[in-house]
Amino acid sequence: MRLAILGCGTVGSEVVRLIQSQSADLTARIGAPLEIAGIAVRRPGRDRAGLPVDPDIFTTDALGLIKRDDVDLVVEVVGGIEPARSWLVEALRAGKSVVTANKALLAEDGGTLHDAAAAGGADLYYEAAVAGAIPLLRPLRDSLHGDTITQVTGIVNGTTNFILSAMDATGAGFTEALEEATALGYAEADPTADIEGFDAAAKAAILASLAFHTRVTAADVHREGITRVTAADVASAKAMGCTIKLLCIASRGTGADGAESVSVRVHPAMIPLTHPLASVGDAFNAVFVEAEAAGQLMFYGRGAGGAPTASAVLGDVVAVARNRIAGICTASESTYAALPVRPMGEAVTRYHISLDVADRPGVLATVANVFARQGVSIATVRQASAEPVDPAAPGGDAILVIVTHRATDAALAATVEELRGLDIVRSVAGVLRVEGGS
Ligand code: NDP
Ligand code: HSE
Repeated sequence: MRLAILGCGTVGSEVVRLIQSQSADLTARIGAPLEIAGIAVRRPGRDRAGLPVDPDIFTTDALGLIKRDDVDLVVEVVGGIEPARSWLVEALRAGKSVVTANKALLAEDGGTLHDAAAAGGADLYYEAAVAGAIPLLRPLRDSLHGDTITQVTGIVNGTTNFILSAMDATGAGFTEALEEATALGYAEADPTADIEGFDAAAKAAILASLAFHTRVTAADVHREGITRVTAADVASAKAMGCTIKLLCIASRGTGADGAESVSVRVHPAMIPLTHPLASVGDAFNAVFVEAEAAGQLMFYGRGAGGAPTASAVLGDVVAVARNRIAGICTASESTYAALPVRPMGEAVTRYHISLDVADRPGVLATVANVFARQGVSIATVRQASAEPVDPAAPGGDAILVIVTHRATDAALAATVEELRGLDIVRSVAGVLRVEGGS
């Protein structure tokens, strides 16, 4: 089995190292020797000290490498949409199976890759694209195919989980925690994809597609990042026996119109400390799957890093190499259900709202009336004195913390809009969803 490896950065270099160090075992597991035919990179002259390969094996001509007759399988660990998409379509249409970790491409235009795989009779495997080392996609794609998955709830971004865990542990604000994550190498120099939820949204689309037999793209996912989570939100969560996590939530259910549909969203949320995801700290990932017959399942481990991600890549390499030897390939996707994606306004959950209000008679009644008008039922109200926002304003201020019963996102948004228009409400200090509990 001769392998073209596209990319030799954080993940690619570990893939190369593992192939070389486990050569005999991989040969035994596959049933044929696994050899690296070539490695495509952007800068072939870059110092890759310690990488156990002949320097002549590097090329900048990825397409030429893919097309070589002696290449059987292609591993893509470059990332991004183009040129990766064109390379992989070329490989798949030519019947060369592909292993990729490229969640951005799969979430944006996975359909093109799946179609090319079907056309070429090739395998398309991508276990490393979601939650790094954790065996998750193949359990969804294979092991749970006899069941009906109802919800997938995950912490699928290590950087944001590190930041939120640090805020929870030390009381630090978002900026301070991000600085710590950057200093320790968890956050990238440009952390936008992580902290604004793009990375998690791509993974959510991939998970929802597999779980619900429906093609879901990143554009279908409602996305909010963690940049507006404050130390006060974290403290308020603690007071309620909760913690804040960036969750991806993909669920299947019946909408207001009675039709079956799916909802896929990524946003920060409070979850009770008793929830299995609450104890997932640092940069770890975990995914909680609920299925009709299997019940609740939990997958936990390292979601990023060179070696953990390379472990998932190599697992796929062994699988597709075995398939090739057996002369078979597995269907890369199942989209027969083709369920519609519900708009975010129809998502139903509970909410935690902090309001900075004037502290005088009738304020609570006025605020409660707004919730009543919008059909949002209040579960609890807590009041604390606050420093006045405007010291010149008459009377004191108070912080009202309201937790609602389950309501639609649209009803909650209308409530917040109306609250913002009240003169007794100095500011809507925070709105967070509350998940995973009664
Ligand atoms: P890196 O940036 O570390 O490596 C990218 C590699 O691609 C480099 O070797 C680079 O070459 C090469 N490359 C870039 N552009 C080209 C080009 N035009 N032609 C040929 N080679 C090119 O990325 P990572 O290893 O971190 O990530 C790779 C993939 O794995 C991405 O899709 C990412 O989302 C995914 N992933 C990464 C995880 C992680 O922890 N890092 C976890 C899970 C998934 P050169 O070395 O010459 O610069
Ligand atoms: N940047 C991602 C994370 C790792 O922080 O989890 C790659 O998916």
